Amino acid sequence: MSLILETEKYLNDLMNSLNYDIDYVKLEKSKLPEFGQYQINVAMQLAKKYGKNPREIATEIVSALDNRFTNVNIQGPGFINVTFNNEVLVEYLNKGINDFNIFVDKPDKKRTIILDYGGANIAKELHVGHLRCNIGEAMRRLLKVFGDNSIGDVHWGDWGTPIGLVIREIKEINPDLPYFDANYKGEYPSESPVTNEELGVIYPRASAKSKVDEKYAEEARSYTLKFQQGEPGIRALWQHIVNTSKSDCEKVYDYLNCQFDYSYGESDADPYAIPVIDFLSEKGVTEMSNGLLIMHIADESDNKEMPPLLLKKSDGAVLYDTTDLATIMQRMKEFNPDAIWYFADERQSLHFEQVFRGSYKSGLVPENVELKFNGFGTINGKDGKPFKTRDGGVMSLKSLIQLVYDKIEPKIKEEITGQERIDIANKLTVATLKYADLLPYRKTDYIFDIDKFTSFEGKTGIYAVYTTTRIKSLLAKLDSKDVKINSVPNDDVLDILIKLTELPKNLTSAYNDVTTSYICEFIYDLCSLYNKFYANNNIANEGNEENKETFIALTKIVYNTLINLLDILGIECVDKM
Ligand code: ARG
Repeated sequence: MSLILETEKYLNDLMNSLNYDIDYVKLEKSKLPEFGQYQINVAMQLAKKYGKNPREIATEIVSALDNRFTNVNIQGPGFINVTFNNEVLVEYLNKGINDFNIFVDKPDKKRTIILDYGGANIAKELHVGHLRCNIGEAMRRLLKVFGDNSIGDVHWGDWGTPIGLVIREIKEINPDLPYFDANYKGEYPSESPVTNEELGVIYPRASAKSKVDEKYAEEARSYTLKFQQGEPGIRALWQHIVNTSKSDCEKVYDYLNCQFDYSYGESDADPYAIPVIDFLSEKGVTEMSNGLLIMHIADESDNKEMPPLLLKKSDGAVLYDTTDLATIMQRMKEFNPDAIWYFADERQSLHFEQVFRGSYKSGLVPENVELKFNGFGTINGKDGKPFKTRDGGVMSLKSLIQLVYDKIEPKIKEEITGQERIDIANKLTVATLKYADLLPYRKTDYIFDIDKFTSFEGKTGIYAVYTTTRIKSLLAKLDSKDVKINSVPNDDVLDILIKLTELPKNLTSAYNDVTTSYICEFIYDLCSLYNKFYANNNIANEGNEENKETFIALTKIVYNTLINLLDILGIECVDKM
């Protein structure tokens, strides 16, 4: 348990022993650090409840506090300021030198949580927005740190119109391929008829044509239906397209350190499409409307429009709602999860609200299973509009990576050359992209400011990795085995120790609010404090042996903490840069 949580528990017991009934006493970071490290702000609340003078209550609480605190004082109407005794800080943080768990207040109940993120659409290139898969990945890692069984699933978009469009366009280019011959009896070729580069051209062209040519669009839809219903030639071609596109997307996910536990796609839920439609129909919640099978989910109390779920077209084709419901059925059966968390663009929130409603209303998912949508904001250019290429096109994620790489690479020291240089540049590129993407609050849009993000100063991945790398090489020169913090020799040390006591709350907030900003902000603060400490103190040449050991132990705890935090974000440190 963290020091803060343990102290809060102590304070709650203390309130009880003083016969005050209160929900929860929080230890809050002081807004006036000159008066203390933390504040206890309950006196005003209790005063109202018990009709007493708040200062009187504050005085009563203060005189009951034990000696874990020093410099206890009351400000204003009854704000109690407290400062931890140095011994208390030292004892707590010595445990943290080799054990990150002291910073993690794990919930009592472990949960199995499926995280649905990534969501690349097969046949289309990953675009800038897909960078935000980093959020799901970081949450998958954070949940693990909290002891949950977190399961990442990429959920490929491999069952919809884009592939139908691509098939239609391949027919245009090469109508003699055996896939299009319904009477073909032989084996289909094992080589894909298209490369990923070709897909990059074919899809946009097909998409554009379908917008102006209704017949073309109709044929594309019929191909979609054919691969959904398993017509051999079209299904074989579908498989080639899926394999080609998937392996390319996987390279990008790998590059970004996104490690999915499952590589399922919408198509893997297809065996559940009919069962889930039957399930809903048996519950009597479906109906036909204009040739579509739908499920109404609107409630009288709704204050916005709540369109029905669209389940099946008259030709039998299934839709986005269907694949999501089928996937839920599959996940319930395969994993029996406590929760399913979805990470997608905030603009999909209505879709998820519909799917969740349908799931609960029909009993597909019991009420005690949490279905949760964690929407994220858009990545914009400096003009505040979605990030585009120079000529106004959609920027691919690969191009964005390349842009950052080209900015980062020249910043690496000249003496680092060859493959080593490339490897380091790649790691720093990933650090830059991830930190930039994980720093803002999840739901807010942010501007991709490449100069700012690749700077060595400020809240950037490269600053965090640079600081961590420097600490790493410093530690390599010192004997840091079995060291401990002995005392608090100066304010630089104290500031770091206090900062570390704040980490558990940041982690808990990240966990509860499903946003990594708290972690990024903390990393920045810790790096800045350490750099200040490093500038003011000469660790290697410190004459006082006890203080020297403290400095080394402090360096070690900061290093281990940074490594653990960066790992949650999926960022790797380097040996030099
Ligand atoms: N493929 C979808 C898209 O790009 C995102 C998938 C989100 N996950 C889900 N289960 N629907 O819009």
